[in-house]
Amino acid sequence: MIYTERISMVNKKFFWGASTSAFQVEGGFGQGGKGIATTDVRYVPEGVADNKIASDHYHHWKEDIKLMKDLGINLYRFSFNWTRIMGDGTNVNQKGLDFYNNIIDECLKFNITPFPTLYHFEMPQHLVDLFGGWKSRECIEAYTKYAEICFKEFGDRVKIWGTINEQMIAIAAKDLNGNHGVNDEQAVKDMYQMSYNMSLAEKRAIALFRTMVPDGKIGPINSMQVVYPASPSPEDIEATQYAKDFLQNCFLDMSVFGRYPLAYVNYLKEKGWYPKTEEEDKVILTENKPDLIGINYYSSTCIRTKKENDNDSKLPPFYRNDKFILEKNPHIMKTKWMEFGIDPKGLYLGMKDIYERYQLPMIVTENGLAYSDILENNKVHDDYRIDYLKKHIEQVEKFVQDGYPLIGYSTWSFIDLVSSHQGFSKRYGLVYVDRTDSDPKKCCRIPKDSYFWYKNMIKK
Ligand code: BG6
Repeated sequence: MIYTERISMVNKKFFWGASTSAFQVEGGFGQGGKGIATTDVRYVPEGVADNKIASDHYHHWKEDIKLMKDLGINLYRFSFNWTRIMGDGTNVNQKGLDFYNNIIDECLKFNITPFPTLYHFEMPQHLVDLFGGWKSRECIEAYTKYAEICFKEFGDRVKIWGTINEQMIAIAAKDLNGNHGVNDEQAVKDMYQMSYNMSLAEKRAIALFRTMVPDGKIGPINSMQVVYPASPSPEDIEATQYAKDFLQNCFLDMSVFGRYPLAYVNYLKEKGWYPKTEEEDKVILTENKPDLIGINYYSSTCIRTKKENDNDSKLPPFYRNDKFILEKNPHIMKTKWMEFGIDPKGLYLGMKDIYERYQLPMIVTENGLAYSDILENNKVHDDYRIDYLKKHIEQVEKFVQDGYPLIGYSTWSFIDLVSSHQGFSKRYGLVYVDRTDSDPKKCCRIPKDSYFWYKNMIKK
């Protein structure tokens, strides 16, 4: 399909949106037939909010969508909780389907395009107990079944879908995928097997999608890696090329071309980490190309070659291997919660690279600033967030003006939510949720200054 046909999916309108994910906003633990998710039973340090109440969107969803309408957005990017739709991963929960039907219908009532992601970091714990979750090929079946239920139930009204959010984080973070109790060597091996199984599951879902929602568009949500060489030395340039293969190309090449970068294949084989595959996988992997790529972007990083005395044990496994090591970019400003720094230009550069390699339309699905906001006199003056958004949106505008196929921008996040690992002390929302880590209070919603800024920006 050529680009102009693909872009017609959105009737040439630009999407201005806001994003959340189910396990970070919903709460509603144990309610409406929701099952136990990996994210419900993960370890959360004392004094940090868990996901059981979160932003209490489960009870505030109508009010939240009204706030979206008043904001003027025409896209809401969210995710389905697998465990709300299939509590144990096998049986369908009608109440869960009803919950999302209500959300979808309410959005459509206000001309807000619903854009769900099927898998955003949470999954039924039961499937982990049963067969180890994503480590097993059985998870491919389970995810495909879940996708089929979602396409059947919502596909008549939902036409734009994400398959998997940030595969890199989903495979590496044990607290999200439930792969606890294994040693480091095994964890790394499992990580590559999980990734392969996820890619296969994504393709199986896309194959189904083509028959069930033929007028819809679907694609992966990528954690965009903008990596600069730490120096012009040929070694650092080489390390940067490896980093690109291991941090991004291995996921997107698989999504789009159905194969891994050669350097990745060679390295995994050399280490004995190459995943188990089956001959017939090749067809399904190469045949089911996505329509678009979702872009999550927060910051850029630098890459250098690994030195012998490097102590990299604190870096997560995807940020280092024998071929490269990732570090902070000394040229960009850092803040407490944006520890890798703020680099608006990186958004442009990263998307340009992705377009040149994959030639697919893109949509920014996450981009935003974390801060410990302060509520004073019922107001939050978050000019620092406005500054971040303004600078990134300038790059978005330039990107579109330069002719690249970007179909929308959706900021992270619509309301404050439980950060993936730091609770509520770190906030991203346009709307303040009045609760603390230890006291959920009533979770009242208070639009921040950035909400009004975004509203005006969209209007213009
Ligand atoms: C992305 C995720 O990795 O970044 C979100 O898709 C997450 O779920 C966001 O919340 C920000 O990261 P964090 O760790 O600050 O919550």
